[in-house]
Amino acid sequence: MKDQNLLTIIMLILMFQDVSTGKETTITCRYNTSCFLSCPHPQGNVTILHWKKETEGDLTVHSFYYEKDQFEHQDPRFKNRTSLVVDQDTGRKTRLQLKNVKVQDEGKYQCHTDIDNNFTPSDVLLQVDAPVQRVDMVRTGNSVTCSSEGVYPKPELTWSSSPQSSSTVQQTEEKLYNISSSLELSDMDGDLLLSCTVSTGLSKWTTTTTWRKPSEEHNTIKC
Ligand SMILES: *[C@@H]1O[C@H](CO)[C@@H](O)[C@H](O)[C@H]1NC(C)=O
Ligand SMILES: *[C@@H]1O[C@H](CO)[C@@H](O)[C@H](O)[C@H]1NC(C)=O
Ligand SMILES: *[C@@H]1O[C@H](CO)[C@@H](O)[C@H](O)[C@H]1NC(C)=O
Ligand SMILES: *[C@@H]1O[C@H](CO)[C@@H](O)[C@H](O)[C@H]1NC(C)=O
Repeated sequence: MKDQNLLTIIMLILMFQDVSTGKETTITCRYNTSCFLSCPHPQGNVTILHWKKETEGDLTVHSFYYEKDQFEHQDPRFKNRTSLVVDQDTGRKTRLQLKNVKVQDEGKYQCHTDIDNNFTPSDVLLQVDAPVQRVDMVRTGNSVTCSSEGVYPKPELTWSSSPQSSSTVQQTEEKLYNISSSLELSDMDGDLLLSCTVSTGLSKWTTTTTWRKPSEEHNTIKC
């Protein structure tokens, strides 16, 4: 019983203490998949493990003590999405699995353990990647529009031609980005081989298409 009270006190300290460690690992997690956050340097048996998210105030992500997972203080944002899994390097259940990764999960996470009675916090910076998986080019009248949807982080769009055209970026409810840009075909000279590239810094996609000039098209619609 005494031990349990002590554990509770230690848990409370862990939940509210703020330690900057200087040790920081960045991991990139693919949107809408499972992500694994490692708690480094585990030695000996773990009796307390506490994962929190430091960004947006300290949110409890996952707690383990009294030999089981404790969900009482878990922030609703992480509900049903976390579990502890075995770290293959150490054989200990200290790795955090976060399911169905959202853009809102980005930020700094910290893991605390009681290992060796020496609280060892370590920071994990989680970055979300929703890669560019296609870039569409569609013609409407005399203009060609290039677009891509559901990407993250914030993308940039570039045309192979000059003059360049500015792009419109919109954010969806899931915080993903839609991007599009249009070019007037009549403003262009030379051939109409157009490439459009959308890039997020983490991913990139280029689509290339040849278009007929508006005047030439008139000639072909003679019949
Ligand atoms: C997320 O993944 C599930 C299956 O793993 C899929 O059914 C769902 O459409 C995906 N959602 C988004 C927004 O990509
Ligand atoms: C760790 O746990 C295992 C099994 O629960 C036990 O056999 C072992 O003695 C423990 N080791 C230490 C250092 O407490
Ligand atoms: C979590 O799972 C339980 C049981 O499957 C379900 O009733 C509950 O609505 C889920 N909560 C969230 C936030 O998804
Ligand atoms: C982004 O693109 C998706 C897929 O085409 C669409 O359903 C959604 O309405 C768009 N959102 C915005 C804010 O443009």
